[in-house]
Amino acid sequence: EQNQQQDQDENEEEGSSSQIPEGGGAQSSYMEELLRQQALEENPAVKELYDKAKEMDKSSETEKSNKILNEAIGMYKTLIEQYGDKLNDTIFKQVAERCINRMRFLGRLKSAVDIHYKLIRRFADEPSFRNQLAVTFLLGNRLSAAKLVLHEVLSQWRYNGFALVHYGFVLKNLDQDFENAVLYLREGIETNDEGTQDGRFYFNLGDALQRLGRNQEAQEVYRKGAKIGLFLSEYQRSLYNVNRLKSKPFWTKLDTTYKDQFTEIYKYWQVIRDEGLKLLSQDGLFMNEQENLKDTGDWKQFELYARGSKTKNCHMAPITCQLINNFKAASSCKRGQVKFSVLHPNTHVHSHCGPTNCRIRAHLGLKVPENTFIRVANETRSWKEGEWLIFDDSYEHEVWQKGTSLRLVLIVDVWHPDLTEEEKSSMSPI
Ligand code: LMR
Ligand code: MN
Repeated sequence: EQNQQQDQDENEEEGSSSQIPEGGGAQSSYMEELLRQQALEENPAVKELYDKAKEMDKSSETEKSNKILNEAIGMYKTLIEQYGDKLNDTIFKQVAERCINRMRFLGRLKSAVDIHYKLIRRFADEPSFRNQLAVTFLLGNRLSAAKLVLHEVLSQWRYNGFALVHYGFVLKNLDQDFENAVLYLREGIETNDEGTQDGRFYFNLGDALQRLGRNQEAQEVYRKGAKIGLFLSEYQRSLYNVNRLKSKPFWTKLDTTYKDQFTEIYKYWQVIRDEGLKLLSQDGLFMNEQENLKDTGDWKQFELYARGSKTKNCHMAPITCQLINNFKAASSCKRGQVKFSVLHPNTHVHSHCGPTNCRIRAHLGLKVPENTFIRVANETRSWKEGEWLIFDDSYEHEVWQKGTSLRLVLIVDVWHPDLTEEEKSSMSPI
């Protein structure tokens, strides 16, 4: 997912302000257009390259062509790297920011970093260009690099809201430094600066507070986030949503509209269980949960489908995968997975929300000892062997395994039944 936070650019020299719009249509003020014309007319060769780049950029969008886009990017780069000193500040910024935007779009993050440095060098007294470099680092999951840049911004601009929230985000997700994450996220959010009223920061602030046992404060953050429309509700805090979908914590097979398919699969629950147990008996196949959701204990998974496609693990669980293959709402669910999930005794999974409201999560109980529980919003239930437990994982949920033997389930995510075919096929995968 793109993080295209746009900053306000104050151009003191020219006495005008510009804001580069997202996406294709480059709209700008009359004054800026005049400045651009004037600067470019003095340099016909540069103007030609600039016009050509913009034309290619535009046609890459109408043609949906990455090849054309790469050519446009090449021209933007030439403008910045070879003719930078012939461009006035307004145009230089416009070209460089558009170049970065398009490089991010293509995932060319290393190339984008070079352009960021050009902006930072030329506009050394504007924090927004450093902040944007940090965003590019974050898009590439380079949290340590982002941390350094943000730290530098805050050493010069102590109250920069954009840097504060991003720095807090990094402290939480890189260092698990919840105490300081709370301080920075909270201070950043309170600035109300552009880019700070974002679900991700409310989400991470609340989560850091919960991890510190400060549940009441967390709830206040969630309530405010829901009130200003960043969350669907105080308990349903997924960030990739379709708004009109009906929702409730627990579902029945009938509610999902896939009753027949769920029924077909659970006829074979013992076969599925045996496939899972056989895999579990082989060392190193199940992987530790990756998202830092576990508090104590041991939680491992073995993935069969991800983002609507089979994984290479499928040949090791052929019957289970064949059953899923016949269940289109599951096998095509680009915003979900199918996986075995094992919780060993004395495991606690922190309260958390899934990323999207576009899926419904079904667990088929395979090995279920006493004293294992899942809370979804305000209700706590247990699994039963050979039965489905179906819930909406965009709601806050938390899991306890206080049994004396392992708990194994098959997790099957299915498309939310309210989504249209059109929506399902155009949705970005998760
Ligand atoms: C979760 O999805 O958070 C848990 O319910 C997974 C599990 O194995 O119970
Ligand atoms: Mn979960």
